[in-house]
Amino acid sequence: MKIRDAADADLPSIVAIYNDAVRTRRSTAQLDPVTVEERRNWIREHSPDRPFWVAEIDDEVAGWLTIKPFIPRCAYQGTVELSVYVSEKFRRRGVARALLQEAIARARSLGVSAMVGLIFAHNEASLKLFEQLGFKRWGLLPGVAQIEGAERDLAILGRRV
Ligand SMILES: CC(C)(COP(=O)(O)OP(=O)(O)OC[C@H]1O[C@@H](n2cnc3c(N)ncnc32)[C@H](O)[C@@H]1OP(=O)(O)O)[C@@H](O)C(=O)NCCC(=O)NCCS
Repeated sequence: MKIRDAADADLPSIVAIYNDAVRTRRSTAQLDPVTVEERRNWIREHSPDRPFWVAEIDDEVAGWLTIKPFIPRCAYQGTVELSVYVSEKFRRRGVARALLQEAIARARSLGVSAMVGLIFAHNEASLKLFEQLGFKRWGLLPGVAQIEGAERDLAILGRRV
């Protein structure tokens, strides 16, 4: 597996992986599929210290991870939000773990002091994943998401660097 910076040429694969997760109603508050056109600046919105990476297996994008500002205010500049998505084809092969481990390993050099994952409380796979990587439950926002008529909780998983 190779982890590298995402490029615009990866966008169709990145968007396809994201849309598969959108459909599950478990991973993201985005409820409608997105298009490559809508997301054409997605990668360019990231910077070397708040990167967008892909994990590549056999020249295919197997998964991706973004590191983005938690809240764009000065006092939170060392805190980032991580998002990780893996193609259904490549799941349970350690792709997400490898991406998160890379983020943890490079956090200091990226000027990151704390990392959070904002994860629906019904997304058990993702909660387990983050907990396995040393993230703890820092908070729970009850019923903040409305998905198909149901109120869903949002868990905040955090890890200091
Ligand atoms: C959650 C997700 C990223 C995991 O990716 P993955 O590459 O399959 O995960 P890994 O193989 O690295 O698994 C690492 C650990 O995560 C946990 N995990 C992953 N998938 C799981 C599942 N379906 N059920 C339970 N635990 C799971 C396990 O603890 C696993 O360790 P183990 O295999 O030793 O038991 C993937 O299922 C996904 O893309 N889901 C949709 C997107 C999403 O929900 N992202 C999180 C929001 S930021």
